[in-house]
Amino acid sequence: METSVDLSQDLPSHVPSELVETFDLWNGEVADDMFGALERLQDRAVAKGGLVYNPYLKIWWAGGLDLVREIYQAPDLFSSRSLAGGIAEPGTPDLSAVLPFRLIPVVLDPPDHEHFKRLLAPLFATNVMERSRPFFLKTIVDAIEKFADKGQTEIVSSLTGRVPALTFTRMFGLPEERGPEYADWNHTLFRGQDPERSEAAGKIIGALTELVERCRREPGDDLMSEVVNATVNGQPVDSNDALGIGFLLWMASLDTTTSHLSFQFWHMATHPEDQRRVRENPELIPGAVEECLRLYGTVNNGRILTRDTEFHGVKMLAGEKIGWASSAIGRDGTVFEDPNTFDPERSGNRHLAFGAGVHRCIGLHLARKMLILSMEELHRRVPPYRITEGMQAKPLSGLSLAFESIPISWDLEG
Ligand code: HEM
Repeated sequence: METSVDLSQDLPSHVPSELVETFDLWNGEVADDMFGALERLQDRAVAKGGLVYNPYLKIWWAGGLDLVREIYQAPDLFSSRSLAGGIAEPGTPDLSAVLPFRLIPVVLDPPDHEHFKRLLAPLFATNVMERSRPFFLKTIVDAIEKFADKGQTEIVSSLTGRVPALTFTRMFGLPEERGPEYADWNHTLFRGQDPERSEAAGKIIGALTELVERCRREPGDDLMSEVVNATVNGQPVDSNDALGIGFLLWMASLDTTTSHLSFQFWHMATHPEDQRRVRENPELIPGAVEECLRLYGTVNNGRILTRDTEFHGVKMLAGEKIGWASSAIGRDGTVFEDPNTFDPERSGNRHLAFGAGVHRCIGLHLARKMLILSMEELHRRVPPYRITEGMQAKPLSGLSLAFESIPISWDLEG
């Protein structure tokens, strides 16, 4: 898709023309060279003071980790009232605008946000996730053992997409055998076009509606039963809000975790020296996982201005959108030494792959556990692996970065 714009028509009068940077998150340069393009864009933004304006997507774009942290920490000025600040591919409606419920808690601003976060955060606390460790481990090991003696696999379908889907179904009290189907619906929701995208949303809503009704009728010991039968700010959670929470957790747990698992194994498959170092020193795995989170932050996020303001010397108006790329701010050379170098021993790795401020990811303990356990177990059971000769693994761009497939292979011993 061409991103040509007529500046005389498309540039709001308060935007100085020297701040214009036209780019497309879904096509063109970003699709061809995702991390390079997002990083170059960030460098240009930083050189201009941190903020640029994209008249094609009609958004402000923020460069630099500290600037983005400031945005995350000012929810009174930068609202979350739409998913990812309502940034959407031109011609495609913003997801939160078409859903018949609120994506709780990510689209709520304080103080409403706080009430729901108080309900949800304890369900994903470190100690709760630690208790689920044996289940996570078994799910991961079972998945790996299905392909470990084959010499090759397509790792998105066999591991990185499979494990989050099975974990999610178990936590939510959904039938495990439908996990792969749920993951497919989620993939279409994030990366498909209408009408398939709307159909996928409809299927997810249908499955969640049944689940919410069942959890009210016959509460079990699953997460959704806790949510459906809880009170928030003294009021019972109504079915619409329960659906909004379920839908958000569905998207958050299936998409982002799958993507990060994919990116970390893609990194290892394409950087044999890094793979060797981590294999020989498994105690470096937690640091390796953090480095992959920093380098390949998959969430391109955003906010909406609540009022007219001057931010870092730039005039912005109420209702305007502002976005940023987690991967680019993770490569901010003013914060990280040698930002493009993978260094599992890096100290003070304060990347923002899980966000910051009041909306900081509640699934981060779960996600980190899966990322670490998966790398430990894959490296324990499969010898050094690489992208299969003659095959390609190409990441997909957009609001959330992902892989469709990653074919890897390894030499079988004996
Ligand atoms: C590697 C995996 C993950 C990444 C990179 C990630 C990233 C993020 C980011 C960047 C945010 C902030 C959104 C914002 O400020 O607008 C967020 C919020 C959230 N994440 Fe995650 N996430 C991951 C896994 C998960 C998992 C496994 C779950 C749950 C099962 C989850 C549930 C949530 C929820 C509920 C929020 C909203 C929190 C709030 O609004 O207070 N995430 N995540």
